[in-house]
Amino acid sequence: MSRKPIIAGNWKMNLLQSEAKELFEGIKGFVKDYTAVELPTIVIAPVFTSLAAVETVKCDCGCGGNKINIAGQNCHWEKSGAYTGEISVEMLADAGCSYVIIGHSERRQYFSETDEMINKKAKAILAGGLIPIICCGETLEQREAGVTDSWIAGQIKAALEGISSEDIAKSVIAYEPIWAIGTGKTCDSDEANRVIAMIRSVVKEVAGAEAADAIRILYGGSVKPSTIEEQMSKSDIDGALIGGASLKADSFNEIIAKTMKLVVAAK
Ligand code: 13P
Repeated sequence: MSRKPIIAGNWKMNLLQSEAKELFEGIKGFVKDYTAVELPTIVIAPVFTSLAAVETVKCDCGCGGNKINIAGQNCHWEKSGAYTGEISVEMLADAGCSYVIIGHSERRQYFSETDEMINKKAKAILAGGLIPIICCGETLEQREAGVTDSWIAGQIKAALEGISSEDIAKSVIAYEPIWAIGTGKTCDSDEANRVIAMIRSVVKEVAGAEAADAIRILYGGSVKPSTIEEQMSKSDIDGALIGGASLKADSFNEIIAKTMKLVVAAK
C-alpha cells in the first residue's frame, strides 16, 4: 500500500480536561512500543479546552514522524478579528494542532455550514501549513433517492475549488454517511469502498492522477474494533475517522493495532 493509513479520533463535544488527559495517556502508553514508521498516522481531535491536555508525540527513532498528531474539530477562515466564539488556524497551530476537521455533517446540520464556508476553511488551513480533514456524506433520504454519488461529488468539488493539486494531494477526505454516524449501522465495506473510489475519481478530475493517488480518503460511521479489519482490507479505504470508539483507549488502541497488522498483508 502506497498511502499511509490514518486512524483519527473525533472526540466531538466530549471529555473534560482531566478525562481527555487520561484518554491521551492511554493512547500514548500504547504507541510507546512502536515507531511512527510502524504506526498508522494517528490523529486525535479533542475539544478546544482540552487541547492543552494533549500534545503531539514525536517519534524518537530518527524517522522524523509523529506517533500522535492533534487536530482541531473546526476553525474559522479569517486570521483574527470580531468573530465571537470562533478559532483561527494560527490559534490551532499555536495550540499544537497539525490537522483540522472541517465540514463534519454535525456542523453542516446544526451550524448551517455551507460548501463555500468549508472551501474557505480548507484554503485557510492549507495556507497556515496544516492539513484539512474534509468530511462529506449523504443522508439516508439521499441514499434512498439514489443521489449519493452526485451529492458527494458536488461536496468534494466545492470543497476543493481553487486549491492547487499539490495541496489537494496532502489533504485528507473523510466519507461519513450520515445515517451511519453514531447509529451502530456501519456502511457495507464494499459500498464504502465504492463511494471512496468514486471520490478518488472526482479528485482525479479536479487535481489530476498524482493527487488522486496520494490523497488519503477515510471512512467514518460506527467504526469499531470489530469492523476495522474488513474496512482496511478494501483497496481505496485509507483509514477511519472514529467517533464513539475513539473515546475509550482500549477500543481506539485496538483499532490502531488491527490496522497495523492488516496493512502489510491486505494491500
Ligand atoms: P461514530 O464513530 O460515533 O459513528 O462517529 C463517526 C463520526 O462522526 C466521526 O467524525
